[in-house]
Amino acid sequence: METGFVKVAIKSEIAVGKTKKVQLDGKHVLVANVSGNYYAIGARCTHKNGDLSMSVLEGNVVTCPNHGAKFDVTTGKVVSGPKIGFFHPKITDEQTYIVKTENEDILIKRNP
Ligand code: FES
Repeated sequence: METGFVKVAIKSEIAVGKTKKVQLDGKHVLVANVSGNYYAIGARCTHKNGDLSMSVLEGNVVTCPNHGAKFDVTTGKVVSGPKIGFFHPKITDEQTYIVKTENEDILIKRNP
């Protein structure tokens, strides 16, 4: 039996194309529904903590409301970094989480 998964939401709370911010171990996590599949990454931008739950999900990409960094919710990878005038700071990928569903429940576990 798999251990360490925590129920954080139910499916009806996250429609296709939507996200929800949840908490796991004191961390903000963004759970996204991409075409009926659920993914979870850190909900705080790795640049300066912008709230990715304020973003509209476009396909599998969320955009930080602060300086426009884009992250792929299916991999946690940076799609494009922040843009502050001519300054384009490098940022790290988001923490990812393993997601599983059990009936109506969505459970996640930190990806080591
Ligand atoms: S805080 Fe997210 S791009 Fe700056």
